Amino acid sequence: MRATRLLENRTSAENFSSIGQEQLVLLLAKHKALLLQSDEGSDPLTVEEFAEFLEGLKLEKYDYLGGAAPRRVIPVKANVEVYTANEAPPDQLIPFHHELAQVVNPPQYLFFYCDLPSETGGETALIDSTLVYRFAADHYPEFIEKLKVYGARYKRTMPAEDDKNSPIGRSFYNTYQVTNQLDLEKKLSEIPGLEYEWTHDGSLTVTTEPIPAVKMIEQQHAHGIYQWTFHNSIVAAWIGWADSRNDRTKSVRFGNNDEMDPKVLDAIADFMNANKVSYKWKKGDIFAINNRLVMHSRNPFTGPRRVYASMFGDVLRTNVVKRDCVGQVMEDFSALNVSDPTTFGMWRLNDPEEIAYNAIVAGYRRFDSACDYGNEELTGRGIRRAIYEGIVKRDDLYITTKLWNTYHHPDHVPLALDRCLEDLGLDYVDEFLVHFPISMEFVSFADKYPPEWKNMNGEMVLVKNDISETWKAMEELVASGKTRFIGLSNFNCQHIRQVLSIAKIRPTSLQIECHPHLSQKKLIRLAREAGIRVTAYSPLGGTSYISLDMATPSDLLFDNPIIDGISKRHNKTAAQVMLRWSIQRDTLPISKSSNLRRMHENRAIFDFYLTLEEVNAIDSLNRNHRYNDPGVFCEGMGTFCPIYE
Ligand SMILES: NC(=O)c1ccc[n+]([C@@H]2O[C@H](COP(=O)([O-])OP(=O)(O)OC[C@H]3O[C@@H](n4cnc5c(N)ncnc54)[C@H](OP(=O)(O)O)[C@@H]3O)[C@@H](O)[C@H]2O)c1
Repeated sequence: MRATRLLENRTSAENFSSIGQEQLVLLLAKHKALLLQSDEGSDPLTVEEFAEFLEGLKLEKYDYLGGAAPRRVIPVKANVEVYTANEAPPDQLIPFHHELAQVVNPPQYLFFYCDLPSETGGETALIDSTLVYRFAADHYPEFIEKLKVYGARYKRTMPAEDDKNSPIGRSFYNTYQVTNQLDLEKKLSEIPGLEYEWTHDGSLTVTTEPIPAVKMIEQQHAHGIYQWTFHNSIVAAWIGWADSRNDRTKSVRFGNNDEMDPKVLDAIADFMNANKVSYKWKKGDIFAINNRLVMHSRNPFTGPRRVYASMFGDVLRTNVVKRDCVGQVMEDFSALNVSDPTTFGMWRLNDPEEIAYNAIVAGYRRFDSACDYGNEELTGRGIRRAIYEGIVKRDDLYITTKLWNTYHHPDHVPLALDRCLEDLGLDYVDEFLVHFPISMEFVSFADKYPPEWKNMNGEMVLVKNDISETWKAMEELVASGKTRFIGLSNFNCQHIRQVLSIAKIRPTSLQIECHPHLSQKKLIRLAREAGIRVTAYSPLGGTSYISLDMATPSDLLFDNPIIDGISKRHNKTAAQVMLRWSIQRDTLPISKSSNLRRMHENRAIFDFYLTLEEVNAIDSLNRNHRYNDPGVFCEGMGTFCPIYE
């Protein structure tokens, strides 16, 4: 079976070969929606093969409860539930929605199979829900804030029997999977906040309890996602919940019963339409959709069309449950590959080419580079060597680089990224970060590269600069395709708020110094609430800073009695305990080692689990002490430059 990405234009034609559960879950965490087809030259997949494929995935069974669309069960295989796709009349558009977003626990994965493509139209269109969230948050922040606080309530009048002429014609018995009025009323009265009333013609009007309508998806199975999504059926209800019983303009409101502004709903619907990816079905095609991250819709069509649907919860945890020494269930990170949170840092390495290559061989997929590290040419060579030898594909890697302080002027921002790309020998990076909230006098590439902290006269010179203008120039780089994401490094809470106040593209991540001596709880919380992923540099504390005279041997944490005690209990090293602590706080540690054994050691952190007490014990080591502090080390260059105070 072949898989092709559906949402990303850059490599929309790329195929993946093996697609078992692990691979699929990973691909759907990363690429969100895939087209699955039989191998080149073979016959299209049959519906039986579709059902067999689904059975083999061992995903959690999901009951189609609460959905508005009438569906019929297609009896293909016992154990696998295959339904007709929404059977709304062909001339009607089914607007964008997450499947069952109007219920509290929507399915995680959706699969569609095409048995008979329509003559014209009938495309399934997709849109990345995070894109929609960003659009809405940037243009209608009050609307999004209100959704975050109150959620949404949906109102729908349902008939006693399925009405095939309506896209929302599912009967109330079917919707709630009961057979009589008594059971139905019992079921409805058990849902706190739900209201219902019988109408004179025997229909039932239900107004749901408030349902969360904007969601932060942090994790799926073992994969860190950290994305806000516009997760609801609001636009679908606004556009499509119309039939003889229902008035679409009354179908949805805020969770506190306030009405929603039609202009905002129309604008979001227009945005979805303008940015959707449509696909015309061929017989045997399968769509695999991450329903937490992607919305789907269906265009009107002519002629017969048979598309089937199946939905699932999470990965079935059939493996033996592993427990740690105090009986806590350990996470299953066995599927970790590209979304592996361990990141390899390229700062101050003796042989960057060899080390980058070795790190890839050792399994690292995320790399942290920067112009300022002065080794991007060599780093790039090591990475390209691994790609050339087929150890990884470019696309398996997540490469971060950074904008140095001398290039904050908007004219210099694109040049700085071009130079990084040229040195790395890559067409794009995955992430470009503003290295510090410190703007310094420009030094030309010809004069000195990297310019480090001093100009050609040997002085560190700060300049006036509006960081908002720098950020706008960073945003343009995303449009140019030279970086997939943009973010910040060493920014404090107020710096972040300032960027957020003007950002059209929000920072994807914040890279900060973070270790047991500097746990940064408040900053991490602020970033998380803003939907920004946190990466933690110097996760082993002062280790790297001793040779720079920015730390002393007494700062080292390797022999700290608390960490030592925990590491002995788990039969792990102190470094592994610190990295594991970082991961359990949902931050992504960036470590580095020139030593092959330690490279491996620093990734062998997924087979144990720190208890809450252990995490708290490490938290207690915090002394708000930073080793990489411009407020201190810039004094050595004659400039007083505190940024965190
Ligand atoms: N954004 C920023 O401003 C910023 C600032 C600093 C760092 N960073 C990024 O973060 C990365 C990591 O920072 P860092 O260098 O401070 O990281 P670190 O991993 O906390 O420390 C690295 C040091 O620890 C040693 N080490 C690594 N693994 C070890 C282990 N298992 N046991 C004992 N010692 C071990 C290494 O020595 P050996 O090589 O001998 O193993 C090296 O001296 C940098 O490379 C850079 O990419 C970013």
